[in-house]
Amino acid sequence: MTSTIVCFLLLFISRIVLGVATPPHIVLIVVDDLGWNDVGYNNPVLNTPTIDRLAGNGVKLLNYYVANHCVPSRNMLMTGRHAIHLGLGSGVIGYHPRGLPLDETTLGEKLKTAGYSTHIIGKWHCGFFSDRYLPHNRGFDTFFGYLGPGIDHYTYIERNMPNLRKNDVCVVSQYGGNFSTFVYATEGVDIINAHDQSKPLFLYLSFALVHAPLQAPESYVKQYETTILNEDRRIFAGMTSCVDEAIANITHALERNDMLKNSVIVFTSDNGGAIANSAGNNWPLRGGKGSNWEGGVRAVAFVYSDLLPQESRGTENTGLMHITDWFPTLVKLAGGNPYGKKKLYGVDQWNMILGLDKSHRGDVLITLESTTHANIHYKTGLFVNNAFDITTTAAIKMGKWKLLTGSPGFTYDNYWFNSDQQAIEDPDYDVRRLVRLYNLDEDPNETTEISDQHHDIVIKMLAKLHKYTREIVPEQSKTEPRIDFDKMGQCLGPWV
Ligand SMILES: *[C@@H]1O[C@H](CO)[C@@H](O)[C@H](O)[C@H]1NC(C)=O
Ligand SMILES: *[C@@H]1O[C@H](CO)[C@@H](O)[C@H](O)[C@H]1NC(C)=O
Ligand SMILES: *[C@@H]1O[C@H](CO)[C@@H](O)[C@H](O)[C@H]1NC(C)=O
Repeated sequence: MTSTIVCFLLLFISRIVLGVATPPHIVLIVVDDLGWNDVGYNNPVLNTPTIDRLAGNGVKLLNYYVANHCVPSRNMLMTGRHAIHLGLGSGVIGYHPRGLPLDETTLGEKLKTAGYSTHIIGKWHCGFFSDRYLPHNRGFDTFFGYLGPGIDHYTYIERNMPNLRKNDVCVVSQYGGNFSTFVYATEGVDIINAHDQSKPLFLYLSFALVHAPLQAPESYVKQYETTILNEDRRIFAGMTSCVDEAIANITHALERNDMLKNSVIVFTSDNGGAIANSAGNNWPLRGGKGSNWEGGVRAVAFVYSDLLPQESRGTENTGLMHITDWFPTLVKLAGGNPYGKKKLYGVDQWNMILGLDKSHRGDVLITLESTTHANIHYKTGLFVNNAFDITTTAAIKMGKWKLLTGSPGFTYDNYWFNSDQQAIEDPDYDVRRLVRLYNLDEDPNETTEISDQHHDIVIKMLAKLHKYTREIVPEQSKTEPRIDFDKMGQCLGPWV
């Protein structure tokens, strides 16, 4: 009874605080492949003053999980549904007719229904083999960007195909040669300047940086001449500074148009930094993009808004959060209804972000691949789980515990990558081990594997994984039919 009253009260307070009568503008910024140690506030060598200022005056999310690579993350972000429910648990969208199923509802659609004008700039990566998968046919009023997975930042070429469009029009000849971050920032500023303020704005700004290839205008790289000796890392650092300036320009445009005071800015990476040759860095977290270690799946993220109550500004929030949580959180903030026929994996975390409530989730399913292999089960004395095949690549966090099964991912099995771009091997790493348990409260760096000391916890977590196994939708085809470049126009695009 009392808790119900408290609940209503909290809802009421958060609505007043947010002045829900006029829904806020929402700017959702994704920086591709940005690692834990790739922002100035975690790594003072990097010069990212805008990101640092926004994060420092907003709410940093320190216990926030994404998938270990882009496709599952981006499709989860757009739907609030888990990748296991979308058939998009792993791999890229590029060569085969894969995409966000058409019976799913996107964040763009929900916010459009709630009265927003909706725009996406940059990377989509939720499918393009047929027209109907393109973002401007899925809830976005306008699309200016590329379809994924990655482009040359000057030529916009990918696999010999130009890849930059305004809705259905290939615009590479117009922009080719201009660095992508300038082009996207300029487009973002134009959208903000032209925005009809009788409506709220949803701007999904999905940068191509800091994804490979390593490219940045010299002026951004030069500042690191004496502080970063590794050349690849120096260029990478320039990329972080360039994207930071783009965010500054967007923020200034909101301010100039008197929109910042009623905006919510969400910043997130889609997965951990791609270490080694791609020069991303997640130190001191283990591993990187493509692995289920923390370096691959615990992402940098924060919320900045002048609408946040004073007490929550400049806080570090340790509530457990998942990338799917943005969907219900933002749709509710917008005054819309996030719920439909399909069960969301995401939960509304706005009151957690405001510091008014605990996290609304007890666990996060990080990865659960649908392919199982050798049919091996966990048996240690009395502790037996005959249901879950521990050769499955999976990772789950429950409270402070994290369990990994099968391979820890397709990259970076056994090392950390330090701030000097050096690999540090794990001397105890046993490649044959199929179950790994860590206490992340005490050991966020995943140095000490403790499954043999906690069989009971392992059993509990395997049971939970098994439960999720029953919900998996078969992975979408990664084989036939192949992409057909001859059926496209000038730009990469639909071929069916
Ligand atoms: C930011 O705006 C300034 C002023 O218009 C411009 O010179 C600069 O190139 C912009 N930076 C980015 C990254 O778009
Ligand atoms: C692209 O580059 C050209 C030449 O530097 C410049 O004149 C033009 O304004 C740029 N366009 C955009 C959209 O940045
Ligand atoms: C994780 O590693 C960093 C860098 O070596 C270290 O400063 C920190 O204390 C470690 N954390 C724990 C809990 O051991």
